[in-house]
Formats: sequence, structure tokens, C-alpha cells
Amino acid sequence: MAKRTTNPNKTDGGLVVIANRMPVRRTAKNKPGEWETSPGGLVTALSPMLRERGGGWVGWDGAAGRKAVPPFLHENIRIRPVSLSAKEFDTFYAGFANKTLWPLYHDSIREPQFHRRWWWPYHRVNERFADAAAQVAGKDDLVWVHDYQLQLVPGMLRERRPETRIGFFLHIPFPPEELFAKIPWRTPILEAMLGADVVGFQTRLAAQNFSRAARRFTDARGSDRLLRFAGRRVVVDAFPISIDVNLYEGMARDPEIAVEAERFRASMNGRRIILCVDRLDYTKGIDIRLRAFEELLSRGRYTAEDCVLIQIAVPTRESVDDYAELRDDVERLVGRINGTHSVKQHVPVHYIYGGLPTRDLIARYCAADVMMVTPFRDGMNLVAKEYCMTRIRQDGVLVLSEFAGAALELKQALLVNPFDVDGIASAMEDALEMTHAEQRKRMTTLRRTVRARSVHDWADGFISRLRES
Ligand code: G6P
Repeated sequence: MAKRTTNPNKTDGGLVVIANRMPVRRTAKNKPGEWETSPGGLVTALSPMLRERGGGWVGWDGAAGRKAVPPFLHENIRIRPVSLSAKEFDTFYAGFANKTLWPLYHDSIREPQFHRRWWWPYHRVNERFADAAAQVAGKDDLVWVHDYQLQLVPGMLRERRPETRIGFFLHIPFPPEELFAKIPWRTPILEAMLGADVVGFQTRLAAQNFSRAARRFTDARGSDRLLRFAGRRVVVDAFPISIDVNLYEGMARDPEIAVEAERFRASMNGRRIILCVDRLDYTKGIDIRLRAFEELLSRGRYTAEDCVLIQIAVPTRESVDDYAELRDDVERLVGRINGTHSVKQHVPVHYIYGGLPTRDLIARYCAADVMMVTPFRDGMNLVAKEYCMTRIRQDGVLVLSEFAGAALELKQALLVNPFDVDGIASAMEDALEMTHAEQRKRMTTLRRTVRARSVHDWADGFISRLRES
């Protein structure tokens, strides 16, 4: 158990998390000062540790151009909000983070844009996070920086606090050297990431890509797993993230959720349910997947009377044009498929633009015969793991993209190339036709794999490597 310091703005011996998003959000009533815990995976993973050991969390307060929110305490976590001006929202967040880094790190699925007028705000906002981190973290605290929005923080914090133990984890893929090389600021980004003692990625491949880029574009030397930089050792490794397995399994066993799942199944009039749940992001392969479903219906073996595809599309980054365009494309496609393939009163695609409360989402997982997770590129993809943990009867079929980090672990899924319309259509047919025995065989192994490593193991694994460093 960590000791707590007397300074209310500092923690000591605990953990300080630096992430773009705070672990809390304003309550629906949106009254000033009223916050509730956010539902995100990172929060679930780290909150128990933070509550138990005491700690802090530095994050953007989620608004743009509003007055800064002062630090506050939430369930034993010291929250230190960072504010963004409207201009910084456009340049740091929508610009450099989401129009430069996000597409580039996802195989350049959209053309990344490189603008100095975005780089400098990215630099400045990272500095603000590093300043806040230096204020919040006590001498003995571990600092854990998260994700592509804050890649410069480790190096900036190292300058301010040379002795602090700093970890960095990238939740999204790290691209191959030849893609990363395009960034005009590639060297300062790598040098800043090397300010951490442990640099973690979702997969070995991402870790290797990083180490190679670091050796090529900085003075770092060493192996793929251990670099030396500026007189320090930097551990580089894969720490595949997971979900709270007990939470998902427990909810699937909740009788009320089982009733909701049955009600939902009944509302589909005995049709087989193909479920898709994604943030409405162009990396998720939603458009190709819909085309594949259209192909399946065109082949004629299945009609809208036999099966229904449910697409839950969670709104995200709506201020970025590529996302607005994707929404138009997807909705046009849904209209076309429903226009062409509806049979009697049956509409083949049910499209929901919006998030669902967790309990309703789990009821949908429990009801779905087939889960389609087909991103073009994804750091991990937790929907795939969530689906497996809710399949308490060991049935259901997961169709999964080869290009999701999760595919390295979930080998008993039906793996598909997310760009291959015909291949995905065939995988949908295979999934709909899979025998019960085969489903059971695959799902039992999938569930065992997911259960073996919960998100708490992920957090503990990273933190212990950081402590050892
Ligand atoms: C991905 C990123 C996270 C990000 C999340 C939601 O999972 O890795 O860092 O927070 O998407 O995106 P948003 O832009 O809404 O924070």
C-alpha cells in the first residue's frame, strides 16, 4: 500500500496516468462539478489500482475553448484536467492526432496530412500535459503515459523529472518503418518516446517496427527488445491489452440480460443474427463488410428472411471530414442494400447510429449467432474479446480480420482478409452454416484464451516491468 503525501495535489508511491481522455465524464444532467466514471476499457483496467494505491490522472476535460476545470478528487483518484482552446482542438486533436498520426499509423488507409501548423500545437499541448504530470507525480510515483496523442510527453517529462519512472503504451498499431519515415517530425517523436523506461505496444510486430525506426532515425542502439538511448536503457515490448473478463462473463449470466437477449432475438422473428459493433471509423472496414453482406444476399442462398445484419455504429470524431464522409457512404450503402434486398416486411440491415448502454450491448452479443469484426487495421480490437466472454453457452461464431491485433491470439476465429468482399461473404456463409459441434470447439478455445489474460493482468504486467526497469 502506498503512502499518501500531505500535499493534496500530489500523490506518492502510486500511479499517475497521463491519457488524452479523463477517467470521468460529466453526468447526463451536465451540472458543473458532477462527474461519473467513464465506461472505457483503460479506466476499468486502471481504476482499481488507482483507488487502492492512490494515484492521479491527467487528461483533457473533453471540451474545447471552455474555462479550465480545477483539479478534483474522484473515488480516491486525483484528477488533473487539461483544457484545450478551440484552436488546439482543431490542430492538436482533429489535426495532428487524427488527420496525421491516426491514418498513418493505420497503414495510411486515408492519406495522412502533414502540416507544421498542426505539429506545433501538438508539441505545445504535449508540453502542457508534461507540466501537469510533473506537478501531480510525487517522487516515488510511476507515471504511465498513453497513446498517440501524447507521444512527446515521456521525453518532456524526462527533462523536467530525470529520476521518474516513466512508461508509455501505444494503443494503436505502430507502422512499418517506411510509412513512419514520412513524418517530417519523425526524429523528435521517436526521441520523445525514448524518454520512457518501458515503451509498450499491442503486438511484437509494432514493437519491432518502433525499435527499427528508433535505430534508424535516432542515436538509439541495441536490440528490438532493449535499446540504449541518452545513457539510459529503454525496454521495448508487446503487452496485448484485454477486457475485464469477469465483468463480461458475469453480465452474460445476469438473468435480466438473458431476458433482454431473448426479447431481442424474438424481435428478429427467428432470423439468424449477424452483429457488427464499431466506432464509425474508416479503419473498421464497415463499408467493405456491408458490401460483403450485399454479395451474400446476391448469391441467393440467404435472403432477408433468413438473416439480418445489425450494424451498431458508435459516433466518433464527427468534426473530422473523413468521418463525416464515411458516415454518408455507410448510410448510402445501407439504403441501397435495404432497397434492393428487403423481402416482405424483412429489412436485411438494421443500422443504429449511436452507442448502446453496456447491458444492452451485452444482450446483443448474447443474442448474436455471428459476430463480424473486420477492421482494415486495428491495434487490438476488444469487441472481439467481449463477444467471446459473453458466449457462456460456448456457441456463436467470431469472424475476425487478420489485421486486428486480436487475430494473433484468437486463432480459432474465422480469419478473413478485410479487403476481400468475396472472401468475407464466404466467411459469413461458413459462419451461418457451422455445425454446433464446430462452434463449440472453437468457442471453448477462444474463451479459454481470452480468460487467461484479463485487462488487470495487462495493467499489472506493464506496471511490474516498469517497476523492474
Ligand atoms: C482509440 C484510441 C484512443 C481514443 C479512442 C476514442 O481507441 O486508441 O486513444 O481515446 O479511440 O477516440 P477519441 O478521439 O474519441 O478519444
